[in-house]
Amino acid sequence: MSLETVPLGPTGTKVSEVAFGTWRFGRENDAGEIEVDRDRAHELLDAYAERGGNFIDTADMYGEGRSEEYIGDWLAERDREDFVIASKIYWPTREDPNGRGLNRKHLRRQIDRILDRLGTDYVDLLYTHRWDDDTPAEEFMRTLDGFVRDGKVNYLGTSTLEPNAWKVAKANEIADRRGYEPFRLAQPRYNVVNREIEGNYLEMCADYGVGVIPWSPLAGGFLTGKYSRDEEPPADSRAATDQRFVDSYLTAENFDALEAVEEVAAAVDASPAQVSLAWLTRHKQVTAPIVGARTVDQLRENLAACEVSISDEQFERLADAKRA
Ligand SMILES: NC(=O)c1ccc[n+]([C@@H]2O[C@H](COP(=O)([O-])OP(=O)(O)OC[C@H]3O[C@@H](n4cnc5c(N)ncnc54)[C@H](OP(=O)(O)O)[C@@H]3O)[C@@H](O)[C@H]2O)c1
Repeated sequence: MSLETVPLGPTGTKVSEVAFGTWRFGRENDAGEIEVDRDRAHELLDAYAERGGNFIDTADMYGEGRSEEYIGDWLAERDREDFVIASKIYWPTREDPNGRGLNRKHLRRQIDRILDRLGTDYVDLLYTHRWDDDTPAEEFMRTLDGFVRDGKVNYLGTSTLEPNAWKVAKANEIADRRGYEPFRLAQPRYNVVNREIEGNYLEMCADYGVGVIPWSPLAGGFLTGKYSRDEEPPADSRAATDQRFVDSYLTAENFDALEAVEEVAAAVDASPAQVSLAWLTRHKQVTAPIVGARTVDQLRENLAACEVSISDEQFERLADAKRA
């Protein structure tokens, strides 16, 4: 079964119901190894496209630009128009004080580098990767609007770790007053064990008609069920090389929530990863979760979530497994 196509939030563009995230492409882990090299990256993109996937997520800082380069090489052999490409700007790319954030100088420099690495004239979606409190929202909304008018970007989005509903609302009010392109998509963290956007943030998205594209839908692999309370993490897992991941995800409260995921997975004869994704794709405000995968087998398992359906009762059981 192919992935279904859904509207990209409130826009007219259509995307696959599950996006593919390329954060680990070209990234050096704590042990100094490249997690996903160019060849593996291309195998993963092939596997995603074979399943009908068209929605690829990257950022200018992923693998210090290597993620965009790997995608650009891969796209060069294909029809770029078949894909909806999203990238992001915010994190430092230079030592100097203007080599970071959402100031006009950094945004203008980075958009051209992004297009160059991807080998394309435009990205479909450009996110602010984090909020920049040092740059007035008026400045970055006007600069971003210019990218849309110039045809370098089709739509704008905003990403966050901390729900910052009032800031996004303020920026969209500025855009409305001045006739600028607003943020039409939001990319927050959201999954069965990370609920910080429930409440104000999701309400803001609903009220402003902003589509929600969750990152880390499997809680970085925690929701696949491969970790257990009492055993050491598998040697080739994210937890084996990332202590911050261990501290934030491998908690007693999360393991309690995982039990609910495993119960539903057993009932519908699917994997915990598939059920976790099915919970998000069923959510009425979610456009498409951005799934990550380090291997082709992981990706195939995750994309098969499009064959899994859960009942209303199972949806609620997972909604209640943990609350904000
Ligand atoms: N905007 C932002 O600030 C932000 C932040 C983070 C991510 N993102 C985006 O969201 C994407 C996904 O984030 P994520 O990588 O944290 O997502 P995720 O889907 O929650 O976790 C992916 C990781 O889980 C493990 N995994 C995935 N499927 C598996 C399976 N079937 N069986 C076993 N293990 C499996 C793999 O790690 P191991 O095999 O190494 O354990 C994989 O790298 C990123 O690529 C990026 O595009 C955005």
